[in-house]
Amino acid sequence: MTETPWDVRRFVRLGSTNDWLLEQARAGAAAGTVAVADYQQSGRGRLGRRWEAPPGTSLLVSVLLRPLAPAASLYPATAAVALSFADACAEVAGVVPEVKWPNDLLVGDRKLAGVLAESNPAAPGGRAGSVALVVGVGCNVSWDGPDGATSLRRNAGRDVDRDELLAAYLGALGRRAGLLDDRAGRELVVDELRRRCATIGRAVGVRLAGPAAEELTGVAEAVDDHGRLVVRHEGGTTAVSAGDVVHLRPFEMPPTAKGSAVRPG
Ligand code: BTN
Repeated sequence: MTETPWDVRRFVRLGSTNDWLLEQARAGAAAGTVAVADYQQSGRGRLGRRWEAPPGTSLLVSVLLRPLAPAASLYPATAAVALSFADACAEVAGVVPEVKWPNDLLVGDRKLAGVLAESNPAAPGGRAGSVALVVGVGCNVSWDGPDGATSLRRNAGRDVDRDELLAAYLGALGRRAGLLDDRAGRELVVDELRRRCATIGRAVGVRLAGPAAEELTGVAEAVDDHGRLVVRHEGGTTAVSAGDVVHLRPFEMPPTAKGSAVRPG
């Protein structure tokens, strides 16, 4: 497999590396363009949240991919990013994170890094049939982050060099990028994600994205080929495409109708 040539643009300060790269994609930037910032003034997380980190404490990086994939089949690309970033943590820091659905990297139950993927099927450039996809990663390197999260420094027991981490990440992603261009390759990536996904087999609480904010409690049985989390609960089985997941302690489920579906209010 050919490795992707990366074109890394570095910034001391930027609104958001994802926003900058989406703008570049709209202007026809090439696959392999990378944005790295020491600090983001308006970093964004999943589900419309903010992503904040003090200057110089995190690896804040976005890559522009242009896989030959239907717009509905982009989950493998975000999975490739999560797996590649996890590989880089292992290689550079000796810390082996697991993936929490959809793409968080966890050490134990603490969040180490988050992934935000945004596509723009209308962005010009790239090969015929390709889709522009910007995937950003925010990784706590030397600070622990908010809300009980954790950092590479804490888990490695030493300082971790952000440039080494970036190089290892881009190396690992470059080796996977070619897989995203055909269905068989994409299946390999999702299979690997399934093997390294801490959510599968766990009791979970899920708050579904959307105005109803429905909540489910059940067991995460699988990640399907579209990247949805398949949750078995009292009301049946739901394939969740977007939402917040909490890993729960294992609970005893009745043999027939396992788990429970809970609607707020
Ligand atoms: C999440 O867990 O909610 C995803 C967080 C993604 C944060 C990264 S930091 C680099 C890139 N630029 C952004 O504005 N967001 C992503």
